[in-house]
Amino acid sequence: MRIASSSWWLLLPCLVQLLSSDLVRGMTINRRIELREEVREMFKHGFEGYMTHAYPADELKPLSCIPSYRDPDVGNFGINDIHANASMTLLDTLSTLPDILPQEFPGALEKVAKGISFNQDVKVQVFEMTIRALGGLLSTYQYLESLPVAPQDQAKTLGLKQREVDVKVFQPRILELALDLGERLLPAFRTSTGIPFARVNLRYGVEAGESEETCTAGAGSLILEFGVLSRLTGDRRFEDVARKAYQAVWDRRSPHNLLGNTIGAEHGQWLAPGMSGIQAGMDSYFEYAIKGAILLGDDTYLDIFDDAYAAIQTFVRTNDGFIYRPVQFRTLQIAAPSTVDSLSAFFAGVQVLNGDLESAIRNHLVHWNLWRRYSGSPESWTWSNRDLHWTGWPGRPEFVESTYYLYQATRDPFYLRVGERVLEDIQERVRTKCGFATMKDVETGELDDRMESFVLSELFKYLYLLFDPSEAESPTNRVFSTEGQTLSLPPSLCRPTRHGSPSVKTPGRTCPAYVPPTLNGLTVGIEQRLDYEYARTIVYGPGVNGRAEETGNVHWSESGFCVVPSAPRYSVDIVLAPMNASSSEQQPAPPQIDDMNAFLSTRLTQHPTSGDFLLSDVSGVHMTVRWRHDNTGYDIATIGPHRVLPGQSVIVSDPLMEGFLPMPDPAANEVEFVDTHPPAEVIMRFSLLSGKEKQVILHAAGSTATFGRKFAESGSNNWGLGGGPVRLILPPNTDPSGCQRLGRPHKSVPEPYVFLLQRGDCTFFDKLVHAQKAGAVGVLVYDEPPSGMAGKTLPLLAMDEAILIRPSSGEEPADLVKATENTGMVFTTFIVGELIKRMIQVESKVLGVELMPVDEDMLGSSLSTAGQTVLGSKVKKEVGPREGKLALGEWVIWNLKIVDRPP
Ligand SMILES: *[C@@H]1O[C@H](CO)[C@@H](O)[C@H](O)[C@H]1NC(C)=O
Ligand SMILES: *[C@@H]1O[C@H](CO)[C@@H](O)[C@H](O)[C@H]1NC(C)=O
Repeated sequence: MRIASSSWWLLLPCLVQLLSSDLVRGMTINRRIELREEVREMFKHGFEGYMTHAYPADELKPLSCIPSYRDPDVGNFGINDIHANASMTLLDTLSTLPDILPQEFPGALEKVAKGISFNQDVKVQVFEMTIRALGGLLSTYQYLESLPVAPQDQAKTLGLKQREVDVKVFQPRILELALDLGERLLPAFRTSTGIPFARVNLRYGVEAGESEETCTAGAGSLILEFGVLSRLTGDRRFEDVARKAYQAVWDRRSPHNLLGNTIGAEHGQWLAPGMSGIQAGMDSYFEYAIKGAILLGDDTYLDIFDDAYAAIQTFVRTNDGFIYRPVQFRTLQIAAPSTVDSLSAFFAGVQVLNGDLESAIRNHLVHWNLWRRYSGSPESWTWSNRDLHWTGWPGRPEFVESTYYLYQATRDPFYLRVGERVLEDIQERVRTKCGFATMKDVETGELDDRMESFVLSELFKYLYLLFDPSEAESPTNRVFSTEGQTLSLPPSLCRPTRHGSPSVKTPGRTCPAYVPPTLNGLTVGIEQRLDYEYARTIVYGPGVNGRAEETGNVHWSESGFCVVPSAPRYSVDIVLAPMNASSSEQQPAPPQIDDMNAFLSTRLTQHPTSGDFLLSDVSGVHMTVRWRHDNTGYDIATIGPHRVLPGQSVIVSDPLMEGFLPMPDPAANEVEFVDTHPPAEVIMRFSLLSGKEKQVILHAAGSTATFGRKFAESGSNNWGLGGGPVRLILPPNTDPSGCQRLGRPHKSVPEPYVFLLQRGDCTFFDKLVHAQKAGAVGVLVYDEPPSGMAGKTLPLLAMDEAILIRPSSGEEPADLVKATENTGMVFTTFIVGELIKRMIQVESKVLGVELMPVDEDMLGSSLSTAGQTVLGSKVKKEVGPREGKLALGEWVIWNLKIVDRPP
């Protein structure tokens, strides 16, 4: 096969084309609107099914198309907790109607205003009644408040056909109902701790002998609804009891700032097994901390959130940054079986609110792979053996909710396609002739005769919002409750906050802008992240099984070629001690300080206006640093008992510091220090070495190995950055991958030279060792052909092929790895390797390859946003408030300054 030289140049434009055509794979506005309208039709189907076959009952049985009533078995909490004989599905859905089905709103509102009474002899759950019924009423009230007064204008705002309508007349009644319900829930809070009973009888209060066992989420997810009720009515009782309950739970946290999942309302003790995490029983406690801070403007919640979030990221999240698993809240022992539940999918949405997009993306990818594997979110899934634990999916919205948040934050069309897939699966698997059923088993598709109210009020609402292209202006303190109810407060009812709300850009606390991954200088999507395949492997395991694997390419394998992603430790405790730079081995133990307050009072002062802390004697001072969400390092979060707020610095003027801080003890902090190279992506310039002039024939991207020569640091006249061309030679035909001993090339081949080897048959490390023994300064390894392409003519570049893996040394002992440190390895794609090989073999050209650093503008941030390469040289380039030397590996502590004398 002969290819005219000029056509080699076409390779890069090809790459450009294929990459950009992938981006066009986004989604057109028309398609989005089509999907939004399909959601509207689904919502209508479910709502009309309920109204026709079940109303005024609380729920619809969607298989038999009959109403669902309370179970005579009082212990059937799954049903009875939310069956209050108060048309729960209608109440829960009411505030969603103006958006999705406005023509039904006036009638539905009238039914609620005139037909519902909470004076019922029913024992129900405080939490469920709050989020579904109270939240629905308050959200509806606030919507009515926003409507214009004139009936014609109301009809117009609602987009109704009729000329006029007056729904505002029901506004007082809706608040009256909310207040009535709130008062009926109050008796639950009369406990010695302030933590409410889980259940209350709406007519008679807490029943004699009621169980005092209540869950963290149940006690701590009332502050939004109760807070809004208090602010709207001026009756402080509700916000007060909810805040007290919230704080009472937090007051019982572990020394690690972790909570258990159930607690006794009267005695205030945690109940066994004391599992902490983000799963069922705890989930919305954390959600309401950040949303409480946003909506109610109460800084207490933000402080709690920051501490709780740091604890979760540090102890609950796995090292790879993908899985959040239950741990025993005191012993940190990991639960067995260790599971991921479908409710916990909400957390990615909370992470978006908190500005931690990187964590949100990873977390969501696990749930996305679960969805595509099972076409539903299994209630609980054991990740250690990749098996179902609880098989059902009752139409829970949390995964779609997070998808919505991530789309809002990234605008990556990937998330629209995720929603599209969810929509198709719902239509195909759970739609019935009068509604949408609960999936009893995601594998078999077996259905249960139940439609939870959140299917309409949340699942379809978030799907609708995901596809809806209109960008409505919304108040900055608007939140969705944990039931998807929209809540906001007018400025007159807000309190000034210390931090500013995290959703608003304030100088102190900012949400880093999303930087999409790039590949070879081109912006690409979430699916092209290097760790996308890793998330797939978590759920599907090795191999190519799973219907999602259309291409069959596997770029991440467990067999040791690829580096497991790792997330930097989120929170690190540091004890400061003076450090002698010239003898770092033998440091004195930091002094034990009994009364930190007294100790600090003479050494730590705070600047009255800037809020900066000035520390004159570091000995024994304890501080906590926390990861910055823009991936640039750490910030001091606390010093001694003081909270260091965003925008404040700690200035150290202890002469003993000499600009150093001690390393945290890796053992004590369980930090995994992996001895790998920082990422170095390189551009390879291939040129003809024969003839008079050096003729460049191709530029291509390469990725250096985590072991062997550090190209980024080598500049000699050798196999290194800017070192000039190095001769490329092929191994014998019998051993294209260099897995047997490589022989030395003929004496006529000038040094230095590198081997061009095919991936596979042995480890990367073996290849490097063989090359080194054969006198080579390195190897260029190219990927195997994409599956199905072997033996065929050159394929056009498959999309996935452009993603470079980073060769790692696998399980090799450190001393062996060290022996190869002067020999380097670069990895490139199949197509580059194949082209070069043919050039040498078929066209008998003598080729050299030269390494050049990647132009920053060209490669952008692909490396830093991609999971496994996050720890790297990036920091060196940062210019920031960095003075003195810093401790945490290469990472900067941004708000720390070390100065000679006080400023
Ligand atoms: C349900 O509520 C209605 C009106 O509020 C009442 O008439 C009816 O008796 C209640 N049914 C039950 C079973 O409590
Ligand atoms: C640091 O250690 C060296 C060697 O142990 C010693 O000579 C020097 O005096 C020490 N400096 C300080 C400031 O303690």
